[in-house]
Amino acid sequence: MESFYITTAIDYVNGTPHVGHAYEKVLTDIIARFRRQMGDRVHFLTGADEHGQKVQTSARARGIAPQQYVDETSAEFRALYDRLEVKYDDFIRTTEPRHQKIVRQVLQQLFDQGDIYRAEYCGFYSTRQEQFLQAKERRPDGSWPEIFGEVTEIVEPNYFFKLRQYQGWLSEFLAQNENFIFPRFRQNEVIEFLKEPLNDLCISRPKERLEWGIPLPFDENYVTYVWFDALINYYSGVVDRPGAWPARWHVIGKDILVPPHAVYWPIMLHATGIPLPKGLLVHGWWLQSGAKMSKSTGAVVNPLALVDEFGVDAFRYFLIREMNVGQDSEFTREQFLVRYNSELANNLGNLVNRTLNMTTRFAGGAVPAAGAAGDLERSLQALWVKTRDEFIPLCEGFQFHTALERAMVFLTDTNAYIEKRAPWKLGKSAEPADQALLCTSLATMAEALRLAIALIQHVTPAAAKRINAVLGYTPGPVWLDELVWGAKLNGVKVAPALVLFPRPLPPATEKKG
Ligand code: ME8
Ligand code: MG
Repeated sequence: MESFYITTAIDYVNGTPHVGHAYEKVLTDIIARFRRQMGDRVHFLTGADEHGQKVQTSARARGIAPQQYVDETSAEFRALYDRLEVKYDDFIRTTEPRHQKIVRQVLQQLFDQGDIYRAEYCGFYSTRQEQFLQAKERRPDGSWPEIFGEVTEIVEPNYFFKLRQYQGWLSEFLAQNENFIFPRFRQNEVIEFLKEPLNDLCISRPKERLEWGIPLPFDENYVTYVWFDALINYYSGVVDRPGAWPARWHVIGKDILVPPHAVYWPIMLHATGIPLPKGLLVHGWWLQSGAKMSKSTGAVVNPLALVDEFGVDAFRYFLIREMNVGQDSEFTREQFLVRYNSELANNLGNLVNRTLNMTTRFAGGAVPAAGAAGDLERSLQALWVKTRDEFIPLCEGFQFHTALERAMVFLTDTNAYIEKRAPWKLGKSAEPADQALLCTSLATMAEALRLAIALIQHVTPAAAKRINAVLGYTPGPVWLDELVWGAKLNGVKVAPALVLFPRPLPPATEKKG
């Protein structure tokens, strides 16, 4: 069995999670579920980034201790992911001793081997991004790009990690590992970034400015820079799981690729002698009116409200169907409703209703054995084979939006098949040939439904369970075997009805988000 270790970014728990955070965890969950189905031994780690200036400031604003603050907010993020059926194997918090211990070990080793030195720091810091800025990032008029929020100037003695001495190695590594970053154009951005000389990385904050962090093991007057701390979660989370490291993919947003994940992290690992992850999977942003949805600006969509209104499957489905992994996507309620109505309620919901309803009316609720297939059945079966054979490689290449589109085409065609076969007409005829065809059509629609839902079950796991339950069907352990057209539902007793995606919905209102 192939070992497949996958991680998400760990969120700053300095506010309430929004659709952007939810998307990343759902995307990673869908990849993890897909790999499990394909037979890999998956380990899926997510968690919370609990140190740093942002968290300290938010805790103070609420007048409570940072630990109490992160206990509460972390629980909120975690509860959301549980509600979204994100089936992570482990949830790491950077305040946990198991993590702090490894961070201090890495720091001590780098210090002992001379990769960390002390010097005066003068420069600029973005609290919003928890990032030191470089003069070249400044606009010609002296202002800073909005993404950085408020920028402060800092002059103080600090500790530095010798990034620059590893710059040549990193450039070489990227040149030799063309597929390290997905999508490919992001790797080119990193290569561009590395054409300028790197500054060494300031990895400390004096405790009088920031207490909420991991103390440096070689100077307790300082805490560790939050990014140096946070990145190590990927490794500290699996040190007790032999064979898990290195990660196959770190799933992250494009705002935290350069420099943290593409520069700091590979160099930290290389300098420490720990193998590098095999890849960075970089997704784009959910936008609202063209701007990044963000905790810091407050322009956000609350995922829980959508789940309450439409159910968890509709929410997961929309995110994955709408976003081309790596690109940005505008989030609108209108578009959510379009997909909900046309693809889930009409397409999938209709097939479920018709299958249950007609099996109940015309066959006493038990799926009959199929008779000889006609042209219509043969072409639907051929479409199935094509759909499945395209769907799997699309998922392997993270083209989930296209994969789901193919699944929708199969559902549309299955509904069209039912229209053409018109079982309701066959049901009125006493002719033995018509009765045989009626059985064939009922068996065909049930089997098509079973297959379609098996195909997309990693995206809509709750709906898959409910549909299988009303079909009286328990899938076998080998996913690929479930994708073979057969007679798996022969004789099963189905429920008379299931309301999966309730209709009608109120028309899209003026209220956005
Ligand atoms: O950056 N659309 O935490 P974070 C899509 N703690 N993804 C978005 C998004 C949006 N509008 N807004 C945020 C941090 N994200 C660090 C990570 S990892 C060792 C430390 C994504 O809470 C963002 O790109 O600001 C990132 O991958 C994740 O949510 C957490 O963002
Ligand atoms: Mg952020």
